[in-house]
Amino acid sequence: MLIGTPKEQFEGERRVALTPDSAKALAKLGHSALIESGAGAAAGFSDAAYAEAGVEVVKNAGVVWSKADVVAKVRPPSESEVAQMRSGQTLISFFNPAGNADLMEQAKEQGASVIAMEMVPRISRAQKMDALSSMANIAGYRAVIEAGNNFGRFFTGQVTAAGKVPPAKVLVIGAGVAGLAAIGTATSLGAITYAFDVRPEVAEQIESMGAEFVFLDFEESSQDSAATGGYAAPSSPEFREKQLAKFREMAPEIDIVIATALIPNREAPELWTPDMVAMMKPGSVIVDLAAEKGGNCKLTVPDEKIVTDNGVTIVGYTDFPSRMAAQASTLYSTNIRHMLTDLTPDKDGKINHNMEDDVIRGATVTHQGEITYPPPPPKVAAIAAAPKKDKPKELTAEEKKAKEVADFKAATKSQVGLLVIGGVIMAIIGAFAPASFMQHFIVFALACFIGFQVIWGVAHSLHTPLMAITNAISGIVIVGALLQIGSGNMLVVLLSLVSVLIASINIVGGFLVTRRMLAMFQKS
Ligand code: NAI
Repeated sequence: MLIGTPKEQFEGERRVALTPDSAKALAKLGHSALIESGAGAAAGFSDAAYAEAGVEVVKNAGVVWSKADVVAKVRPPSESEVAQMRSGQTLISFFNPAGNADLMEQAKEQGASVIAMEMVPRISRAQKMDALSSMANIAGYRAVIEAGNNFGRFFTGQVTAAGKVPPAKVLVIGAGVAGLAAIGTATSLGAITYAFDVRPEVAEQIESMGAEFVFLDFEESSQDSAATGGYAAPSSPEFREKQLAKFREMAPEIDIVIATALIPNREAPELWTPDMVAMMKPGSVIVDLAAEKGGNCKLTVPDEKIVTDNGVTIVGYTDFPSRMAAQASTLYSTNIRHMLTDLTPDKDGKINHNMEDDVIRGATVTHQGEITYPPPPPKVAAIAAAPKKDKPKELTAEEKKAKEVADFKAATKSQVGLLVIGGVIMAIIGAFAPASFMQHFIVFALACFIGFQVIWGVAHSLHTPLMAITNAISGIVIVGALLQIGSGNMLVVLLSLVSVLIASINIVGGFLVTRRMLAMFQKS
């Protein structure tokens, strides 16, 4: 099939849905690609680079819309773009189906299939196609860079000959994909970072990234987001008051606020109120990533940067991914390429728009002259939601005691049985084997028993130190084997050699595993 990409029409949009690298990957699926001249220029991809990757470069968008079997783009199409679509053609792009009913209707009338990238279900298998997450990650990173650009001080604390510089204090509100990216960037720049989210389950993620979770002394059962597919639900007025009181307390100390709090299909909650802005020091910065949905700070002006009377800069840009067009295009085109991989299961250049596939079905908003939005809930979620087991019956104190006695008796019985069997085997061996052998054999049997008991009880988290201990033991084994290797007895020499070999494998393996584990923490 021919995959085509026109230049984005939305003013100021710098991203492109196809890169030379993604085109090469598409070729492996049996597809060929064409692109409008200059479509990748703002993201740093020249026509020559596309041509070199085997992409046909055409002069105008009309050719792309008329020739391509699948059109891949970033922003939702304009009416004039949809008007150029034909029956059987597929469009893959952001589409905002919830707010674009007319456009969806128009695409249906044209007989075109539309795959809306924001509708890719958020299930593990579809993460590689999750363009919302790719873009949110970039927005979170860029928000911190933008804040730094408008902040007149270092992020990290320094002690210099010219004086002491305190570290910047950053508060990230909302620790979803964008918030976590912002936390990672702020902590790596050396800022003291605090973060808050209504979903308490993210506290661990926040802390593992080096930030401090802002705890509220409040119990609210509705805070559990499991029921809302990982998303936040609106919080109660009492909770909100408690949250605002905490922020009010922090406001005079905080230098930078990165606000990312969103609730799907609602206006962004107001979390950084004008009185908090008034409490901030001059030179402080607020970057409101929720600007497009009304902002977490209502002083935010979408797409603009303003400075308040008390000298606080509020950045309300809504195009952060486009401001990092090269990175955003690379990730987005990879998401599109993965979507096309799923649409081309046989890698034969033929699109199989399989509506039985959860991900394809979930993202498709029009297909074969029908509007298929909203999709049914993914089957995977139904499978993942394990059937609730009945809670075990609460036992009374006497029943508990009786159960403990019965368990103990059963365990003792099986242990006595094993001891008797072990004793009989020992007695039979002892009747025939020499006394010196028996002495070593009993030590060996006891060592096996104790070793098994000890290792069996080790918690998973302690497996790495356990590995280190076994390596140390291997060292002792080698010393023992080397002491015996000079013996005149061939059997002893052979056993020593085997011991050295096995212990060496353990030691070398330990080094290799340790190297791999350390590499996981290294920045390339
Ligand atoms: P989002 O952009 O809708 O919301 C951003 C954050 O704001 C969320 O963490 C939300 O809890 C928080 N928030 C909402 N109201 C708030 C308030 N009043 N105060 C403080 N924080 C508030 O969410 P996003 O980033 O798109 O994803 C949220 C979650 O979805 C992820 O953390 C993850 O659990 C899940 N997810 C799953 C994926 C997968 O399995 N493929 C991919 C991406 C996300």
